[in-house]
Amino acid sequence: MHADWQRICHEFLLATGYKKGDLEQGWAAKYDFSKRPPTYLRHEDALVRIPLGKPEFPVSPDVWEVLNNRRSKRNFTEDPLSLNELNLLLWGTQGITADMGDYQLRTSPSAGALYPIETYLLVNNVEGLDRGLYHLDVQEWCLEALKWEDVAEVAYAHTEDQEMTRRAAVNFVWTAVVDRSKDKYKERAYRYIFWDAGHVAQNLHIAGNSLGLGVTTVGHWYDKEMNDYLGIDGVNHLSILMASVGKVAGKDWLSDRRPAPRD
Ligand SMILES: Cc1cc2nc3c(=O)[nH]c(=O)nc-3n(C[C@H](O)[C@H](O)[C@H](O)COP(=O)(O)O)c2cc1C
Repeated sequence: MHADWQRICHEFLLATGYKKGDLEQGWAAKYDFSKRPPTYLRHEDALVRIPLGKPEFPVSPDVWEVLNNRRSKRNFTEDPLSLNELNLLLWGTQGITADMGDYQLRTSPSAGALYPIETYLLVNNVEGLDRGLYHLDVQEWCLEALKWEDVAEVAYAHTEDQEMTRRAAVNFVWTAVVDRSKDKYKERAYRYIFWDAGHVAQNLHIAGNSLGLGVTTVGHWYDKEMNDYLGIDGVNHLSILMASVGKVAGKDWLSDRRPAPRD
């Protein structure tokens, strides 16, 4: 870790903060959106593509009840997630809900409708899916299988042995394609990317808690190891945030929330 991180962080805030008079007035409105970098990422070399289709939407609890009862639950059981549950979580975080012609809008908001966030999944225990690394193709709404292996151990090792990541039915790894935001927002793009990821993660909490699932955001992972594992360069395409999801006993939120014991 850099010894002078405090100076670097301070300089980041200074370098990316807006001051009156810094920018040409109306510059953002003048951005030529039609020339933006591509919004959708497809892995043409995927081992297999699994179409998801529209999820089946269950009857949901009242939104105020969901917010009142939301907790970061991480004491996961060994019960698998159904593919429909996973599809609902993906739709709730990245699903396309409106077609504006040359761009589409989603369940999560995104600065400038540029959608820099990609979703990778470390699938451990989901009915109908082999264990492995997957990427969500948002445009085709399908999962792209990239590697088949024991990703529970990968998640555990890359999150400094957080037991919940090993026990999770699925770990979300959100990445960002920086160019999508940087083309418009320049130095401020990095802020927008983190804000976008926060909105996506909160949608996962709302969707997951509505389904009675355990969801916990994970900010603690080894960046380089994860980027290398995903096969991304860590500069223009980098890991931004993670979340663990799984079934919980659902009897008592305090014990559902408890960090799983390390064994
Ligand atoms: C950005 C972010 C990163 C987090 N990282 C972790 C983490 O690495 N491990 C973990 O067990 N919990 C993590 N949490 C969960 C927090 O510990 C939890 O939200 C906090 O204790 C408040 O509890 P609640 O969400 O149940 O209300 C994270 C939460 C956020 C928002």
